[in-house]
Amino acid sequence: MSKTFLGILLVVAVAAVVPFGMIALSRSRPSPLRPVHPILDMVRQPKFKPQSQNAMFADGRAMRPLIPGVEARGDLAVSNEVLNDPSFPRLIDDRRSAFVPNSAEAYDRVLQGVETKAKGQKGWVEVIPLPVTADLIERGRERFNIYCAPCHGLSGYGDGAVARRAAEMQASGADTAAGWVAPTSYHSDEIRSRPVGRLYNTVTNGVRTMPAYDKQISVLDRWAIVAYVKALQRSQHAKPADVPETERDKYR
Ligand code: HEC
Repeated sequence: MSKTFLGILLVVAVAAVVPFGMIALSRSRPSPLRPVHPILDMVRQPKFKPQSQNAMFADGRAMRPLIPGVEARGDLAVSNEVLNDPSFPRLIDDRRSAFVPNSAEAYDRVLQGVETKAKGQKGWVEVIPLPVTADLIERGRERFNIYCAPCHGLSGYGDGAVARRAAEMQASGADTAAGWVAPTSYHSDEIRSRPVGRLYNTVTNGVRTMPAYDKQISVLDRWAIVAYVKALQRSQHAKPADVPETERDKYR
């Protein structure tokens, strides 16, 4: 091979690298030019920029105000409006004064779901900070059957449809059910002895393999569910004496 040929080969080899070098260089530098887009796809599409105008709306604003009553994710704390609802105050006041040893302020923080352990108090909140009426428990029953019963079962023994199916799959050796942990029954002495604040906390933040429900269930509904879980627990350990004399005939 002649020296000339080798020389040419070297020059060509070096020159072949130059375009790649240029591409790499231009990619790392800002450019005032529009990028070349052979296929436009969704790169450019009509849109309204923040603070711009849109003649389609009567007020001419492109940015639409929030619909009244809308709640952002994670912002489900009870609003003052709910606290000031005319149907609540008296019962709430009773509860508030019963909320010893905490202050009324601590009560409000708990009610609003800001904390489940009231300030200045060791341990969990032991009083449901809402009037426990038949309506509240009924609401809790309805929400419980939607959100909890699929795993924990309608009676809370941990035998919901999801749990039964998972157990079946585990028994048949399916990989997808390998990590499944059976939902806890509410009727063991341990779970029955749990203060309401701890139950509320379980629903709000989840526990070990159980997911949190704070995004799906509002603060009021979480307390309603807690009230219903307490009712379920009581129902499984009820004695005839718990039923008022006048009601007993109905259940004979
Ligand atoms: C997707 C299934 C699933 C749903 C839905 C579910 N749970 Fe659970 N729950 C579990 C599992 C699983 C455990 C046991 C977790 C563990 O031990 O890892 C558990 C545990 C619990 C415990 C015991 C907590 C503890 O400290 O041991 C309570 C109380 C509870 N759940 C309440 C609820 C309530 C109330 C709801 C409805 C808001 C609910 N769960 C919805 C699966 C579920």
